[in-house]
Amino acid sequence: MSIYKANHKNILLAADEIKHGGLVGFPTETVYGLGADGMNSTAVAKIFETKNRPTFNPLILHINSVEQLDSIAKINNAKTNILINNFWPGPLTLVLKKKECIPDIVTAGNDTVAVRMPANKTALELIYLAETPIAAPSANVFGKLSPTTAFHVEEQLGDKVDVILDGGKCKVGVESTILKISENEVILLRPGGLSVEKIETALNEKIIRKNISEEIISPGLLKSHYAPEIPIRFIDDINLDDYRNQNVGVLLFDRNSYNFDFKEIKYLSKNGQLREAAANLFVYLHEFENANLDLIVCEKINPVGLGSAIMDRLEKAVNKYS
Ligand code: TXA
Ligand code: MG
Repeated sequence: MSIYKANHKNILLAADEIKHGGLVGFPTETVYGLGADGMNSTAVAKIFETKNRPTFNPLILHINSVEQLDSIAKINNAKTNILINNFWPGPLTLVLKKKECIPDIVTAGNDTVAVRMPANKTALELIYLAETPIAAPSANVFGKLSPTTAFHVEEQLGDKVDVILDGGKCKVGVESTILKISENEVILLRPGGLSVEKIETALNEKIIRKNISEEIISPGLLKSHYAPEIPIRFIDDINLDDYRNQNVGVLLFDRNSYNFDFKEIKYLSKNGQLREAAANLFVYLHEFENANLDLIVCEKINPVGLGSAIMDRLEKAVNKYS
C-alpha cells in the first residue's frame, strides 16, 4: 500500500473505502488515526485485528459537526456545551452518554462513548465524505509509538491499510486530552494536546485528575470488567449436565465446536471468522443478558489474532462470577 497525497480526489477515494468497510490511515492534528466506519462493527473489528490489540479498548468516534454529535451521544449539561464551543475542533475528546445506534464493539460494552472533532482539514473532509462518524485509535501497532507522519503509518501498518492519506506532519503531535463529564464533575482521563489549565479557565472550575490505574481510565485493564448481568462460565470449567433443567445460553465460536441440545445457542461466527466473531461478541452477550437466562456458558477461543481480544473479554466476564 502506498501513500496518497491528501487532495480532494484521494480523500474521496479514502471515504469510499470507509463506506465499504475498509481501513484508512488519516492525519489529525494530534496523531495519525486508523479509521473505519464507526457504525459498522465488522469494519471496527478490523481495527483491533490490524493493530494487534489484545483487548477491546473502547475507541474514539471522530465527527465533523455538532449535528453528527447529536446522532450518537446525549448531551445533558451546560459544561459539555462550553467545552465544545471553546475547544472543538481541537485536541479534546469528551466521554459522553452514548446513543443506542453505536455498535458495542466501539464502546467495548460501556454506556458511554468517546467523541472528538479533529482540527484537521483532511480529517474533517474525510468524515464529511464518508457520511459517518469514523472510529479511530492511533494508527500504530499495539505497544508501539504513535505515528505523526504518513510514513510512520506506512512503516507499521502499510500492507494492512487500504489507503493512507498524507496530510503532512501532525501539528500537535500528542494524543487528545480526554475528559469525562458527569452531572457534578469533570474528570481528566488522559492528559493530552489541550492543557488542563485552558480547560479549567473555560469552565471556571478545577477538574479532577484520576490516576491511570483507576477503574474509569482503563476499564479494559480490570480483571473483571464488562461482565453481563447474569453468571457466565466457560464450558470447560463446569459440568453441563448439572444445568439441564435451567435456562442456559450457550455461546460458541463456530459450527464445528460442540454438539449440544440446549435451546439457546449462538455462534459467534458460523464459518469460524474471527473478525465476524469479534463484531458479534458484545451483541450476543447483550441479547443473552436480556433473554431471562440463569446462566451463559461460553467456549474458550484460541488466543491468536483477534481471538486474544475476544478471549480477554470473555475471561474478564467469567472472572466476575468465579
Ligand atoms: O488524539 C487522539 O485521541 C487520537 C487520534 C487518532 O484521534 N486517538 C487516540 O485513540 O489516541 P486511542 O484509541 O489510542 O486512545 C483512546 C483512549 C483509550 O485509552 C480508551 O481507553 C479511551 O480513549 N476511551 C475511549 N472510549 C472511552 C470511554 N467510553 N470511557 C473511557 N475511556 C474511553
Ligand atoms: Mg493509542
